[in-house]
Amino acid sequence: MYKISLITGDGIGPELSESAVSVLNIIHDKLDLKFDITKLSAGDKALSETGKALPDETVSAIKNSDVCLKAPVGESAADVIVVLRRMLDLYANVRPAKSYPHMPALRDDIDMVIVRENTEDLYTGHEFSLGDAAVALRIISKKASTRIAKYAFETAKQRDSMRKVTCVHKSNVMRLTDGLFAKSCADVAKEYPDVIFEEMYVDACAMNLIRQPEQFDVIVTTNLFGDILSDESSQVVGGLGMAPAANIGDNFALFEPVHGAAFDIAGQNIANPSSFLLSIKMMLDWLGNKHNDSKCIEVGQKLESTIFNLVKTGVKTKDIGGDMGTVEFTKQITNNL
Ligand code: NAI
Repeated sequence: MYKISLITGDGIGPELSESAVSVLNIIHDKLDLKFDITKLSAGDKALSETGKALPDETVSAIKNSDVCLKAPVGESAADVIVVLRRMLDLYANVRPAKSYPHMPALRDDIDMVIVRENTEDLYTGHEFSLGDAAVALRIISKKASTRIAKYAFETAKQRDSMRKVTCVHKSNVMRLTDGLFAKSCADVAKEYPDVIFEEMYVDACAMNLIRQPEQFDVIVTTNLFGDILSDESSQVVGGLGMAPAANIGDNFALFEPVHGAAFDIAGQNIANPSSFLLSIKMMLDWLGNKHNDSKCIEVGQKLESTIFNLVKTGVKTKDIGGDMGTVEFTKQITNNL
């Protein structure tokens, strides 16, 4: 029995959470993989109700669970997810961009992953006013850069792909901070002679993701660049509705969609739950590897292939060219699982 803490979120978060719970219940009842789910509040709603975007009870429940699932939250995201990433030292943000059939995508042959450093950079929140200026501190350490580089190289080694790591930075301008990041990655590369290593400036990378995305296998980059590039890479393969993510530390992990609370479509039963359900697939892989539980891996593969087969036959939500609602698409998944 795995204890899952579930932040239900804001905007489309509650709809995605209902979809996730339906799928986890079917897995629990019919596929014999047991979960105990605790629903938790965090985000804009929690802030207005309790005065805290990340209530203490939520943090305790997360720490008391085996793994956390987080639906998107709204304007208070920095006080929820950025804080959790740092508090739990979830240093690797893993964001795959993988082609699915018949997507309204730029390309249908892409399988890459962005490994984003998740604890430093401009996201540490060290901002202050100085005279008439606003100042932000950009913190990049050798320790964090080295461990994310190692994570990226290990990821490339394990993937059934071209085994290549592209380190993305802007060291020609940010010579000290990105210079340190680039050098740390290059040093780690020497320990992995079987993995191809290259460096690319972030502006060139943004362009190449559109022009020639097939050249990428694993991108390793700093926090802010990774945030931006992963929205772009998800659009290359079909959009945010299909984009899952993992926040991984040495002992704990949190899984969430790449996207935010999507207030523009909230409450309309049109959000694509695949981003969250594919995050569950990543969660099952992580649990399986951590606990040496092949059942988790097997069920994760089943969940992904169920989504793959549905979209292949045109059973899809509106954002990717279909006509199914969130609830109806979820029902198709639970029926087919
Ligand atoms: P967003 O990622 O929520 O939405 C961008 C666009 O993608 C919107 O047009 C939306 O409708 C569409 N979209 C996103 N997910 C979708 C899905 N599952 N199915 C179909 N369409 C989908 O970005 P936006 O609008 O800039 O941010 C909204 C709120 O989310 C903000 O308050 C922001 O602070 C928050 N946010 C939270 C994050 C988190 O919890 N990790 C991450 C990013 C933003």
